[in-house]
Amino acid sequence: MNLKLVHRDGGAGMGEGRFETVLNALADPILVLNAEGGIAYANLAAEQFFDASQSWLCSRALSELIPNDSPVFAMIAQVCAQGSSLSEYGVTLETPRTGSRLVTIQVAPIADEPGAVAVSFHDRSIAFKMTRQMDSRNAVRSVTGMAALLAHEVKNPLSGIRGAAQLLETAASTEDRKLTRLICDETDRICALVDRMEVFSENPFIEREAVNIHQVLGHVRELAQSGFARYIRFRERYDPSLPPVSGDRDQLVQVFLNLVKNAAEAAPKQGGEVTITTGYQHGLRLSTPGSGARTHLPLVVSIEDNGEGIPDDLRPHLFDPFVTTKAGGTGLGLPLVAKIIGDHGGIVEFTSEPGHTVFRVYLPVYTGSEKKNG
Ligand SMILES: Nc1ncnc2c1ncn2[C@@H]1O[C@H](COP(=O)(O)OP(=O)(O)OP(=O)(O)O)[C@@H](O)[C@H]1O
Ligand SMILES: [Mg+2]
Repeated sequence: MNLKLVHRDGGAGMGEGRFETVLNALADPILVLNAEGGIAYANLAAEQFFDASQSWLCSRALSELIPNDSPVFAMIAQVCAQGSSLSEYGVTLETPRTGSRLVTIQVAPIADEPGAVAVSFHDRSIAFKMTRQMDSRNAVRSVTGMAALLAHEVKNPLSGIRGAAQLLETAASTEDRKLTRLICDETDRICALVDRMEVFSENPFIEREAVNIHQVLGHVRELAQSGFARYIRFRERYDPSLPPVSGDRDQLVQVFLNLVKNAAEAAPKQGGEVTITTGYQHGLRLSTPGSGARTHLPLVVSIEDNGEGIPDDLRPHLFDPFVTTKAGGTGLGLPLVAKIIGDHGGIVEFTSEPGHTVFRVYLPVYTGSEKKNG
């Protein structure tokens, strides 16, 4: 087959050459493959990416460029079979020409050319978001260690202190009793704080069940509207055909409560709006670096607000513990979201500009064959 880049309407205004110019201007490497797996076209970015000239690339098969066990071949087969496009995030591409790179691969069928596909490689964007997510997991891991340390090194001695103060109280004068009360009250306060940290302690076992995410979101909305979000106007855009999420209901309530609380707190006092959207996204998969396991994350829940947005300097550290701009904030809301979603095998990301901030959570579907371990 001779695949050529031609304009459908015969080139009115934009002929073959113009298309090449446009494709060559793109930063992402793009390869067009014919039904036999031969490279029919490579743009300029692909030349640089694979460190080879266009003419060299166009006389090869993709299998001469990329090792046969690469997930890209399975993706191509799937795209040809299903006729719809597919993306896979966080794929490690290792070839002598490219070295080892973490990329997002997108494969799309080419209309009117059965078996032909366009393959594009993104070096950063999503991969960068992934890294940020992984960074936040690392940050949470350090809190996990701290939570265990606090429980051990602070809580145990505190109960001793409290016990001693209670003993003293029995023999103390009225005047001194005020002091022993003070000791008890303060130790209780510190214990409560340590308890709050304990949710971060390592707990990789999630009781996975089929969770109706709309029930979770409805519950969160009720809690919000009867409390901290009384003055907020809520909009719900739910996809009623959404299959159940594989997860732990209570933990998911916690996640969306934290996100809705942040959205409500960010929204303006007058005219504050929070929109909750659910949807199904085909062809979104996440490779977990190192394990080679691939999770399909088609369920997307977004929480949007019309607040001022997230300040630029905060963005890289948003999921780190203790990052807060609020007077009474703990800065533990988002790290907890990152931890729980991470335990579920999902991802959370955000986009923000003044007047429009969106947090998106991607989750796996319940299939019924879940193991207990997240
Ligand atoms: N929707 C949002 N719009 C603007 N800024 C946000 C939004 N969500 C989070 N932030 C910023 O991220 C910071 C961290 O959020 P996080 O939920 O972790 O802690 P917090 O809300 O400050 O404290 P807490 O959750 O304990 O009340 C917030 O202080 C705020 O500055
Ligand atoms: Mg918060």
